[in-house]
Amino acid sequence: MAMSTRSHEKPTAGAAHAAFLWSRLGSILAVAPLGVWTVIHLWNNLAVFSGERAWEAAVTEHTSPVSLAVTTAIVLLPLGIHTGWGLARLATSRPNNRRYGFFANFKYLLQRVSAVGVLAFLGAHLWLAFLRPRLVEHRPEPFRDIAAEMRHHPPTLVVYLLGTLGVAYHLANGLTGVAMGWGVVATQAGLRKADRVAAVIFALLLAMSWGAIYGLWNAGLPFTPGVD
Ligand code: HEM
Repeated sequence: MAMSTRSHEKPTAGAAHAAFLWSRLGSILAVAPLGVWTVIHLWNNLAVFSGERAWEAAVTEHTSPVSLAVTTAIVLLPLGIHTGWGLARLATSRPNNRRYGFFANFKYLLQRVSAVGVLAFLGAHLWLAFLRPRLVEHRPEPFRDIAAEMRHHPPTLVVYLLGTLGVAYHLANGLTGVAMGWGVVATQAGLRKADRVAAVIFALLLAMSWGAIYGLWNAGLPFTPGVD
């Protein structure tokens, strides 16, 4: 993977070891639980096609406060660690697309651009759909609210369409980075195959995301934003 580091100082063995472990942690947490949970979350959102109750049962309801706390920890902790790792990578590595105009470099750049987009999207999504309803309104996000926003508030629709596009690319292409980083793929032929697999995963993730958004948009017609 093409990149250049800013610092030319030689790290100590301890620092190099810590950096290696940190990099492994940031990488593996992105796949499990984060990537796995992302797929489950998108799948659950497709319950929108079975109606309001089915969507709320699949997406926002928890059997107990403990179940909510465990899910939150399993998702938010790895997300925090991966984001910290990702921001450190953004700060210390630079794409060299001008010198090497290869497809691999373009994907490397897009991985970083999508990371920034995903960070902004997840910040807004977590606050508006997860934290704010629970902390301010003392209940989970009602189906009618999110469906009404999707239908009658165009910025929400655009943010969800672009945000999930970023997540689909970031996760699908990120998996090829993981495969290379962990030595699963090591040849040119393997890389080409990994690219094809990533393209299929990207298409599936995007179809699930935009399918769920379409379902919410479609269901939102009779509802008014802010009234549930
Ligand atoms: C749903 C949330 C996310 C998922 C599922 C996810 C998944 C992934 C995966 C699978 C990789 C490849 C890891 C590797 O190459 O070893 C990756 C790379 C990366 N992620 Fe994320 N990510 C998410 C959110 C974020 C956020 C919020 C940031 C914020 C900056 C971020 C920054 C990065 C960066 C910079 C890389 C590239 C690292 C490199 O190749 O040097 N990610 N992500």
